Amino acid sequence: MTEQPVPAQQSETAPAGDHQPIKQRKNGLYPAVSDELAAHMRNGWADTELRGLEPLPQAAETARRRSALSRRFPGERLVIPAGNLRTRSNDTEYPFRAGTEYAHLTGDQSEDGVLVLEPAADGGHQAVLYLLPRSDRENGEFWLDGQGELWVGRRYSLAENEQRLGLPCRDVRKAAGELAEQAGPVRLVRGHDQGLEAALADRLDAGRDEELRVFLSELRLVKDAFEIGELQKAVDSTVRGFEDVVKVLDRAEATSERYIEGTFFLRARVEGNDVGYGSICAAGPHATTLHWVRNDGPVRSGELLLLDAGVETHTLYTADVTRTLPVNGRFTGLQRKIYDAVYEAQEAGIAAVRPGAKYRDFHDAAQRVLAGKLVEWGLVEGPVERVLELGLQRRWTLHGTGHMLGMDVHDCALARTETYVDGTLEPGMCLTVEPGLYFQADDLTVPAEYRGIGVRIEDDILVTEDGNRNLSAALPRSSAGVESWMARLKG
Ligand code: GLY
Ligand code: MN
Ligand code: MN
Repeated sequence: MTEQPVPAQQSETAPAGDHQPIKQRKNGLYPAVSDELAAHMRNGWADTELRGLEPLPQAAETARRRSALSRRFPGERLVIPAGNLRTRSNDTEYPFRAGTEYAHLTGDQSEDGVLVLEPAADGGHQAVLYLLPRSDRENGEFWLDGQGELWVGRRYSLAENEQRLGLPCRDVRKAAGELAEQAGPVRLVRGHDQGLEAALADRLDAGRDEELRVFLSELRLVKDAFEIGELQKAVDSTVRGFEDVVKVLDRAEATSERYIEGTFFLRARVEGNDVGYGSICAAGPHATTLHWVRNDGPVRSGELLLLDAGVETHTLYTADVTRTLPVNGRFTGLQRKIYDAVYEAQEAGIAAVRPGAKYRDFHDAAQRVLAGKLVEWGLVEGPVERVLELGLQRRWTLHGTGHMLGMDVHDCALARTETYVDGTLEPGMCLTVEPGLYFQADDLTVPAEYRGIGVRIEDDILVTEDGNRNLSAALPRSSAGVESWMARLKG
């Protein structure tokens, strides 16, 4: 093994606990590797290869999804990357989260992974998964390279992954070269792996690649039984996370919204992979900011807390739930009036979710209720039909009443209008129903006492054969239900 250049400073100057990989160090704190040390590190390691691994529980489903993809693009090479680590600063990276398309088609979540569907002679495809193999101990990669297993943890070997994933696996370091050598049309899911995009640049076409992403987005519109189970797990953990938050509201009052964010995050990390999106922990007037994720404001008794948060499971399915809670456990009269209006709108929205209904129906139903309330309260001039026609209620309702939910919080976002927004609900679809009313702190068109109040109620609704099922029904929604639930948890 060749010696590395001897740096100016020696290892004893490295701070204790400094686990920077040698290859990535820029400041030369480590000495060169002697031939004796290199030899010492090569030998004396046990064989830890795992044999007889069970396939992942979703392996049959991922195979079925790949078959559907194969049928849609016969004769074309299809490339679906997991994505790469992204630098946060210097030599630290953001936590890795595999691309949704890749994880949905493989069940795998490895950084740098690439799924390739190679056209086969029979008109179908042969699926191949390119992955980083176990670190080489002969050349020292496992302990000298920043991505070596000694630094980042053991990976599955290619043979182990073949058993787990039910796919032939090859070394990903050969992927770009092998793909570049192949003739014929290629489609690539863009936005995840710049190296592959560069290697295949002269063979790719943006429009054709977009068609691939659109198809994969639509492939996720209807969830199978495994996915529904995962969504329920995500919701169940989320329910526990909301309970955790209620129990620590006094500590949040003593600190800030961050206490709420941290409390929910703890539940997400212990029971799942992560939060599925940045938690919105919006107290007081922050509740009127739709994506309030700074979460650095005060939490005050007498005000509302709008908590919009979801646990993401280890398989990357996320919940998306909102409750608007009185910090001290009791709604004021005006808070209750606004809350009950949103609740009524949500009830109307949920009632409109059933197979055969138009996707837009639940939004329209909820908006009609809210427009009626705004007219009744004298905030906008009626009649309701006029308000809805002109969309005047939107000053206070602000956003659509829901969206598809799955591996992405806004799942299937690339699906065509005719299959999603203008489409028809089918059993197995899962969507949020989340009406809200938001009176900005500086909104001079409403009485002063409304200003700074924001309410949203959001549940995760599965379309069933005969209607729907509220996956998040374990969390109370009515104002009275919320109060008694909080009273019980606060003790
Ligand atoms: N949490 C984002 C949303 O409700 O769509
Ligand atoms: Mn939400
Ligand atoms: Mn949502």
